[in-house]
Amino acid sequence: MLSYRHLFHAGSFTDVFKHALLARLLVALGKKDKPYFYLDTHAGIGRYDLSHPWAQKVREYENGIGRLWGRKDIPAALAPYLDIVKAENPNHKLRFYPGSPLIAKRLMRPEDRMVLTELNKADFADLQKLFANERRVAVELLDGYQGLKAHLPPQERRGLVLIDSSFDRSREFARIVTALAEAHERWATGMYAVWYPLMDLGDMRNFERNVEKTGIRKILKLELTVQPEDWTLTVPGCGMLVINPPWQFEDEARPLLEWLWQALSVEGAGGVKVDWLVPE
Ligand SMILES: C[S@@+](CC[C@H](N)C(=O)[O-])C[C@H]1O[C@@H](n2cnc3c(N)ncnc32)[C@H](O)[C@@H]1O
Repeated sequence: MLSYRHLFHAGSFTDVFKHALLARLLVALGKKDKPYFYLDTHAGIGRYDLSHPWAQKVREYENGIGRLWGRKDIPAALAPYLDIVKAENPNHKLRFYPGSPLIAKRLMRPEDRMVLTELNKADFADLQKLFANERRVAVELLDGYQGLKAHLPPQERRGLVLIDSSFDRSREFARIVTALAEAHERWATGMYAVWYPLMDLGDMRNFERNVEKTGIRKILKLELTVQPEDWTLTVPGCGMLVINPPWQFEDEARPLLEWLWQALSVEGAGGVKVDWLVPE
């Protein structure tokens, strides 16, 4: 039973963090002449109407994309992501927020290919409608972890897998570690980006140790916290593991996340961490 609906959280600081990094990874992939493959294992609906009552319930976007909207001092590294958000709102009023599949679609070139898997039937139907008639986009009603088995390794031999689970099962961290190990065995040279919420310290240590135990190397860990640790309304922070990141990605990501932290942190709480969980 899937109870999570991303519309409640669309445009939150966690989306901004995740999508800003996603855009940088795809920009890097697009620099080479060769086509790439993008797999979004937990795709969502692709486009979110922030005026919907669900998005209005907690209005998480106000402390996320809402804080960036209208700012004139956006760093160049954030432009690819924010230009896509702006393009969804041509009358300059923030109403629609693009999900990861739409961000990827806007950055893809005609020769690149994308597969989106989503397990919630209603969300799948919305996603399918959004990408109806799109060439080189396949939308599947499928468990994202099964999708990894079905689609890796891709024929392009280069590309990115985004694993952006809703963490609505208590053992999701363990499930992700198993899935990563299996996927990496199928496709060791692929780039993987795994989003996660920051939970209690013990859970996070366990997760890291278990990822280390897979033997996978070249794992960059990026984290952003914007709320004090005792904050309970939403998560105080989140992170992303990037396996096989582009050359010098850490040097690009650090200032970008520092800027985001300045913009998104509530009363100076939290901070940014960028370090190698496992080096090359
Ligand atoms: C955090 S949301 C995805 C947001 C999206 N990646 C984005 O950035 O716009 C997680 C999505 O995963 C879906 N989901 C949950 N478990 C799944 C599974 N095992 N396989 C595929 N999708 C799943 C949920 O229905 C939800 O739409």
